[in-house]
Amino acid sequence: MLRLQQALPERYSSATPEALEEMIRVAKETLGSRLIILGHHYQRDEVMRWADARGDSFGLSRIAADQQEAEFVVFCGVHFMAESADILTSDRQQVLLPDLNAGCSMADMADLDSVEEAWESLSRLVDVDRVVPVTYMNSSAALKAFVGRHGGVVCTSSNARAVLTWALGDGSSPSRGDQVLFFPDQHLGRNTGYQLGYTEDDMAVWNPRQVDGGLDADTIKGSTLLLWKGHCSVHQRFRPNHIDTFRTEHPGGLVVVHPECAHDVVEVADLVGSTDFIIKAVADAPAGAVIGVGTEIHLVNRLDEETPDKTVVSLDPLVCPCSTMFRIDAAHLAWILEGLVNGEVHNRITVDPETAEWARVALERMLATV
Ligand code: 13P
Ligand code: SF4
Repeated sequence: MLRLQQALPERYSSATPEALEEMIRVAKETLGSRLIILGHHYQRDEVMRWADARGDSFGLSRIAADQQEAEFVVFCGVHFMAESADILTSDRQQVLLPDLNAGCSMADMADLDSVEEAWESLSRLVDVDRVVPVTYMNSSAALKAFVGRHGGVVCTSSNARAVLTWALGDGSSPSRGDQVLFFPDQHLGRNTGYQLGYTEDDMAVWNPRQVDGGLDADTIKGSTLLLWKGHCSVHQRFRPNHIDTFRTEHPGGLVVVHPECAHDVVEVADLVGSTDFIIKAVADAPAGAVIGVGTEIHLVNRLDEETPDKTVVSLDPLVCPCSTMFRIDAAHLAWILEGLVNGEVHNRITVDPETAEWARVALERMLATV
């Protein structure tokens, strides 16, 4: 999705790291409790060091909502996270994203038009009142609102299992539907489906570029989970052979991966979970442990630095950072903060009231579920 970030003024683009540090320090001190800086785990260190709170995407939005005192919430993360923070914070709080081009390529793989088209196709073939739309937190506010309007729910990588159980029911709880349309990450949907005991035959991939998702009517009717053909380009890079190599080099090492990795990777890992889960798994590992991690490189490197009694390595030696998270740097942070000191609000992220209302419904359903 194209969002246009203006070029930074020379004062920031040509400043030395030390000068930027000083600008940020002074502005942060001046703004005091009017400001909170939130840092997602995948941020660079030059940004993360200024964060008042670190966390995963949903955790940070909740922190923002709990910080009634802070008038400005500077979200060092990506666009959908800043939108969620705006939805969950009060009207007097303003959420700012230091670089408007910090989107999420996975979130951009499902837009409202294509999801509405898919819904229309489904309604010709099945009773859509029995289809529960589930969107991953990594999606636009418009999609969260779509699921809110259609009896669906949001999930995160840490609660996807509970959310799918809520949707499809199990021995002890009723179902809200017979099928789930899950977007935008096919891998999180598939990995969670397998965890719940569904098989390959119960799941089909919905390709939004093809008529009826590229599926025939029988497949659509017979699939419990329709998985949107989206993925994370960072997590999809991890392959089973990376784990084989790690295990050869570090017999007895522990392998922990994010559920946005493909299922063949998840199958051969020791532990699977969200960014917060990965952090906890490293903390819980015994001193001397060697841990191979399948997630974004800034988090992996930070875990290694911050736990000197353990060795934490990326499973993919060539892994690249999340290029959109990487857009947030000290120069953009300094520009945003000095703007606030001077009474200028740059890059405010707002969600229109109707979209926010329905998105909140979907988020609240999630909170009531888990
Ligand atoms: P978390 O929900 O764990 O913060 O993950 C967000 C994300 O973008 C993972 O790629
Ligand atoms: Fe999106 Fe993947 Fe980057 Fe997470 S790591 S923000 S899912 S592109």
